[in-house]
Amino acid sequence: MDKTFENTKKLNWRGLICEYGEFLPVTPGARVITLGEGATPLVHAPHLSQIKGADVYLKFEGANPTGSFKDRGMTLAITKAVEAGSSAVVCASTGNTSASAAAYAAKAGLACIVLIPAGYIALGKLAQALIYGAKVVQIRGNFDRALEIVRELGDSKPVTVVNSINPYRIEGQKTGAFEVVDQLGDAPDYHFIPVGNAGNITAYWRGYNEYLKAGISTRLPRMMGVQAAGAAPIVLGHPVVNPDTVATAIRIGNPASWSGALGAKDESGGEIFAVSDEEILSAYRLLARYESIFCEPASAASVAGLLKTPVDPGSSVVCVLTGNGLKDPDTAISQIEVPTAVDADLDAISAALGL
Ligand code: F0G
Repeated sequence: MDKTFENTKKLNWRGLICEYGEFLPVTPGARVITLGEGATPLVHAPHLSQIKGADVYLKFEGANPTGSFKDRGMTLAITKAVEAGSSAVVCASTGNTSASAAAYAAKAGLACIVLIPAGYIALGKLAQALIYGAKVVQIRGNFDRALEIVRELGDSKPVTVVNSINPYRIEGQKTGAFEVVDQLGDAPDYHFIPVGNAGNITAYWRGYNEYLKAGISTRLPRMMGVQAAGAAPIVLGHPVVNPDTVATAIRIGNPASWSGALGAKDESGGEIFAVSDEEILSAYRLLARYESIFCEPASAASVAGLLKTPVDPGSSVVCVLTGNGLKDPDTAISQIEVPTAVDADLDAISAALGL
């Protein structure tokens, strides 16, 4: 067992590879690189449940070690890179993949290179990649261009690509679906999820199918993928050359797992549709104010999607909240009026409070 968890047996959680190893391509005896990811809360959402006349739950992936769902895939991708004898990993990222890759690479003692679109990555994510010690290259170009270059680097240099074109990423991420079933007792009727590069919707659909096949669940959810209107290639049916949205995490115009997303939608009888930036920000504020969950804007896209979609009365709904709101303080601050400073005395404070 990883040293970190030797003294936490009471909590009985050893990270995804140990907990779900029988469903993952893990080599017995391999060195496992984990930060204790997974076991994220599935929070019941009374306000949303009332609005929708359904039973709504929020899977808060911002509770993972680096604050996003990316840790699920990264524990496996980095474990496999170590097993293969790799000494360096590389990824393109809108921020969360780079934060996660940097953390797990540091844990494993691997070098980490990340390519990010200059000016379009939330401050907290940039801070994470840097403080974990990654070599960060900010490119004058968007995520899609960064991923093209990363593919070329993977083909021509001795580096392991840890974007979701690396199959271990999607394998690890499917554990999100396992946890939803383990927490709810069965699969929900609807599963709402933000779609950017489309790896996560592909992974959840695989996870739900594997649990059904294993007899752990009895049914499959309808997969409801949500894109930002300014970055909605799958909805439009063609790549978007200049994607644009306040939800920078899903500012992607040519998703790598496009066919996986379509497969999930078609096989589950679900939908992939778009929400506007205004709808995303409205859901983002609602989640913090009424459900006490501070997620990042891209994550709120799943709830924005739920809010505009009719669901069957009394049905069960899971929305994945993919990342932590603390990653993007600028957007949070832009949504509220920040109070000005007052003198540190009772009268001034009472006056400011209108008391
Ligand atoms: N939500 C957040 C917070 C994300 O960071 C991402 C993707 C998604 C949703 C979409 O997931 O790509 O599997 O469809 N972020 C990637 C990154 C692209 O580089 O961090 P997807």
